[in-house]
Amino acid sequence: MMHTPLIAPSILSADFARLGEEVESVLAAGADVVHFDVMDNHYVPNLTFGPTICHALRNYGIEADIDVHLMVSPVDNMIDAFADAGASMISFHPEASQHVDRSISLIKQRGLKAGLVLNPATSLSVLDYVLEKLDYVLLMSVNPGFGGQSFIPNTVEKTQHLKHIIDEMGLDTRIEVDGGINKDTIKSVYDAGADMFVAGSAIFNKPDYKQAIADLKNQLK
Ligand code: DX5
Ligand code: ZN
Repeated sequence: MMHTPLIAPSILSADFARLGEEVESVLAAGADVVHFDVMDNHYVPNLTFGPTICHALRNYGIEADIDVHLMVSPVDNMIDAFADAGASMISFHPEASQHVDRSISLIKQRGLKAGLVLNPATSLSVLDYVLEKLDYVLLMSVNPGFGGQSFIPNTVEKTQHLKHIIDEMGLDTRIEVDGGINKDTIKSVYDAGADMFVAGSAIFNKPDYKQAIADLKNQLK
């Protein structure tokens, strides 16, 4: 099944002092989803923001889907906190959860879309007994923790392989790719079967968000 490709700006590269305005302007510029990177200085060596900031964006009037990428351990208490804070979809890393199937169920029980995130060195085999339960799989194309890193090329082959598995099983799971996505790398993963694209520095580090998003979308034609 074909999905409409979605561009999900990672607010990790936004100006945090003006976060509400930044999210508003990136959505007005054509972004589809807000990608929200939660880091805990434990699962990953960096620290960002938590559920109160997500809630603040909802209070500010942001209505777009908020795609919460949890890079935290433990996972489960943050699922409830982000569901309360207005998240639309939540993904987590299997290495960070003691009970992966339970964490997926918690997300689904809260009525949200559930995703599992695979690091560059994590095998697709972690999906063996849970893929049917997932709305999306997030393939990391960098090691998690920081924006502005270079795209790891073997993500293309991994995306192709995952797309093949999804199609063989007759599922309509989305494939999201995160890390080093820019106008030079996005087409390779799109052609491989990805349909949701996180981009932080390729959007927020540009002066014109509308142009930056158009540059990405133009590669998907
Ligand atoms: C990295 C984050 C990414 C990151 C992407 O741990 O998950 O979402 O912000 O940033 P760029 O697009 O700059 O690689
Ligand atoms: Zn992310």
